[in-house]
Amino acid sequence: MKLYRANDYKEMSRKAANIISSLVIMKPDCVLGLATGSTPIGTYQELVRRYENGDLDFSQVCSANLDEYKGLTKDNEQSYFYFMYNNLFKHVNIKLENTNIPNGMEPNAQEECLRYERVIESLNGVDLQLLGLGHNGHIGFNEPAEAFETITHCVDLTASTIEANKRFFEKEEDVPRQAYTMGIGTIMKAKKILLIVSGEDKADILYRSLRGPVTPHVPASILQLHNDVIVVADEAALSRMPE
Ligand code: F6R
Repeated sequence: MKLYRANDYKEMSRKAANIISSLVIMKPDCVLGLATGSTPIGTYQELVRRYENGDLDFSQVCSANLDEYKGLTKDNEQSYFYFMYNNLFKHVNIKLENTNIPNGMEPNAQEECLRYERVIESLNGVDLQLLGLGHNGHIGFNEPAEAFETITHCVDLTASTIEANKRFFEKEEDVPRQAYTMGIGTIMKAKKILLIVSGEDKADILYRSLRGPVTPHVPASILQLHNDVIVVADEAALSRMPE
């Protein structure tokens, strides 16, 4: 595991974008695993800047997102499709048909999860999976549990995740209660993983994820077992980690 320290959110975003850019340059038809949430917004802005400067070409890139709320249409402002479209896809020359996100409007969970696994397989897997870190150690929507869920599945969101996500919705009741997410096994199959973490409120969970025991109670702790993980975190998030 490589750990890159950044002074602040801005520098974390630049460093993460540098890593993603180097892959897009070296492998123009790479498969990027993408995440939503507050953490990657700056990284996406940096990627857009590099594209606008003429340094990046997404025309052959494919993407597969980690997760999507169940029951939200693509044009719902809180859907992860909407987030990806507005924060990245519409600003660069990625082809929309090359982007993949679980279909939140498919009511048959079993069918949708199998379909999504097949999509990832048909792309020959994810080259680089970008991850944010939940306060309870979740990655994607893999919440703390008694066992690691391996493949794409439908989850009931925990109270803490609903609480954390309600800031994006008008009312807490509007936060969907379920989501489709890549499983831990799906994430672990990515050839390279890039975990980005910012802020003091993540310091404790980052420490437990990287230095604590590997346990499904801290889903991100599984990353200790992946052979190619890069963590880019700012000083605030690293405040519990020894130098
Ligand atoms: C997003 C996702 C989540 C977030 C996590 C951190 O697609 O899968 O696991 O990465 O909840 O969210 P932020 O970045 O908002 O703190």
